[in-house]
Amino acid sequence: MSAQDSVPTPAATAPIDPIPTTSTPDINAAPHDPEDPETGEIEDPDNESSRFYGPEPDSNPSDGDSALGDYRSTRSTSVSSYVYDYQYENGRRYHARRYSTEYDLPNDEKESDRLDLQHHLFLLTLSGALHRAPISKNVQEVLDVGTGTGIWAIDFADQYESSKVTGTDLSPIQPAFVPPNCQFYVDNMEEDWTFDHKFDYIHGRMIVVGMRNWERFFQQCYDNLHPGGWVEIQDLNFPLRCDDGTAGPESPPMTWSSLMIEGAAKLGVDLSASNRFRDIMSNVGFEEVTVEHHAWPINSWPKDQNEKEKGMWVLQNVLEGLQGFSMGYYTRGLRWRAEEVDVFLASVRERMKDKRSHVYLPIGVFYARKPMGI
Ligand SMILES: C[S@@+](CC[C@H](N)C(=O)[O-])C[C@H]1O[C@@H](n2cnc3c(N)ncnc32)[C@H](O)[C@@H]1O
Repeated sequence: MSAQDSVPTPAATAPIDPIPTTSTPDINAAPHDPEDPETGEIEDPDNESSRFYGPEPDSNPSDGDSALGDYRSTRSTSVSSYVYDYQYENGRRYHARRYSTEYDLPNDEKESDRLDLQHHLFLLTLSGALHRAPISKNVQEVLDVGTGTGIWAIDFADQYESSKVTGTDLSPIQPAFVPPNCQFYVDNMEEDWTFDHKFDYIHGRMIVVGMRNWERFFQQCYDNLHPGGWVEIQDLNFPLRCDDGTAGPESPPMTWSSLMIEGAAKLGVDLSASNRFRDIMSNVGFEEVTVEHHAWPINSWPKDQNEKEKGMWVLQNVLEGLQGFSMGYYTRGLRWRAEEVDVFLASVRERMKDKRSHVYLPIGVFYARKPMGI
């Protein structure tokens, strides 16, 4: 991180109103049979993506699913600087283009609200936990790369009073009022990191959409951790899945997913990159590499009540985010016109709202430790 890129936000003077969290049992934590009795599909231990499984569908779906819970969002900071030199494209706002890197999702209010909603979804997925790595209760220096609205960093700082949390992002979209042990900087994580201290825990969530060089990223994590420190990434794994054929490869959601992969790839982003995390982490020198596989059902089609609730949040997340996720990859990557994207997305939304399509997004949690004494 270069000093001139740093735009710290003011220290806290008022408490943050946290998003309500719901603690649910982690049904995904239960071990699954590697040979699916219904499909006979056998898990390939060499293929990370074959380890994702969706939940069991509800054979008797009703329209009576309860409404989404109460939800509040955080607000932006008001620092004035070149980092506010935003770009506007197809009705959405994007980060300032002074960086050598490009991030193809918007950074506007609509996207910030979606990120805060998605934070709740991660809490549902991880039974209310902010992390999986077995970090110390007295963890000290913590880094959250690609922090977005900073909601994870703020929650973490509140929960671990011993910690000093640094959040970095291309965009200064974090709130002005944050806990005293939390600070934010504008920084490009794809450049050389020049922090003046090492960390005990480095966290990144949903940064697959922005990161291009994962080997370099994990190497920088390694170099910037104390011996015994942990790295953890919580991220998506494209393509969308459907285990029972209720959404075929030609269906709008699956077509959308394939085109997302193609468009992102044209811009140097690999939406399936997390398949490689286990190997990259090991190659860099991390130990105790651990991977957890989760599924985000799109809509309330699963049988299990917790999965059903999660599915409603996922649907809301996707409906609110679909245009933001897609517009950059489709127009910049695939060279579609914005109007074509909007027409196509309407059909994707329609099909996602149909509970007969048992589609889910694989989500992985990856963590590992830098060896002691290095
Ligand atoms: C999908 S958002 C996730 C935000 C946050 N981690 C969360 O889970 O709520 C991805 C974030 O990564 C940031 N980002 C993308 N590329 C980046 C880069 N090269 N350096 C720093 N941040 C980046 C984006 O600005 C965006 O805020």
